Amino acid sequence: MEILQVKQIHKIYGEKENKVYALRDVSFSVEQGEFIAIVGTSGSGKSTLLNLIGGLDTPARGQIIIRGHDIASLKRKELTIFRRRNIGFVFQNYSLMPVLNVYDNVALPVTFDRGKHVDHGYIRELLKELGLWEKRKRYPSELSGGQQQRVALARALANKPALVLADEPTGNLDSSTTVEVMGLLKESSRKYHQTILMVTHNEALAQACDRIIRIEDGRLYCAAGKDGGWL
Ligand SMILES: Nc1ncnc2c1ncn2[C@@H]1O[C@H](COP(=O)(O)OP(=O)(O)O)[C@@H](O)[C@H]1O
Ligand SMILES: [Mg+2]
Repeated sequence: MEILQVKQIHKIYGEKENKVYALRDVSFSVEQGEFIAIVGTSGSGKSTLLNLIGGLDTPARGQIIIRGHDIASLKRKELTIFRRRNIGFVFQNYSLMPVLNVYDNVALPVTFDRGKHVDHGYIRELLKELGLWEKRKRYPSELSGGQQQRVALARALANKPALVLADEPTGNLDSSTTVEVMGLLKESSRKYHQTILMVTHNEALAQACDRIIRIEDGRLYCAAGKDGGWL
């Protein structure tokens, strides 16, 4: 089943002489359960693409369809709820709440959505797998960059979202932690049949994914299948 369809997306920032064509005519589809790497040089449009798919920004042209819903057709409030239920984000800058401790940051999306029905067992499991359980009462400012990144990842997975959008989730991690985080993402995607779109600069990590989407200068120019063939 196709969980995501990106259809002829264009995104432009700025106006007149300051215009930047961040994405040009980008189209692709993603099956449920696929683990996709998005690669491309800095400034090629990777973060822009994730932001559009997550409904955090709107394209100049084109459509984004998630689980059969054209996200542009959702009202603001509907989109907020849809996003909370279906999408987990890992941002490049972590975006943790400074006034909440690690545990509460991770539980936040669930708290918002389902009130008292927070799956504490699952959050404990996530924190343990990410080596954060001992840090659960700490605040983001008391953590290293790598630890904050892992908290952001745990938060993204807390809701068991169908779609996980991760912008360089291992960018600030040492190589052994990177391997652990990748393992967790793969395991999570297998267990919950989650679809993961992960921006990475790490060629080895990209190769370990089901498919690689390359973006250069705002254009998607190839998407290699698992068998190494060109789609
Ligand atoms: N908010 C913005 N305003 C203006 N230009 C932007 C904005 N965000 C990104 N851009 C530009 O759009 C292009 C794509 O950026 P981005 O999606 O962040 O690339 P990447 O994540 O691949 O490094 C770049 O040229 C960048 O400078
Ligand atoms: Mg980026």
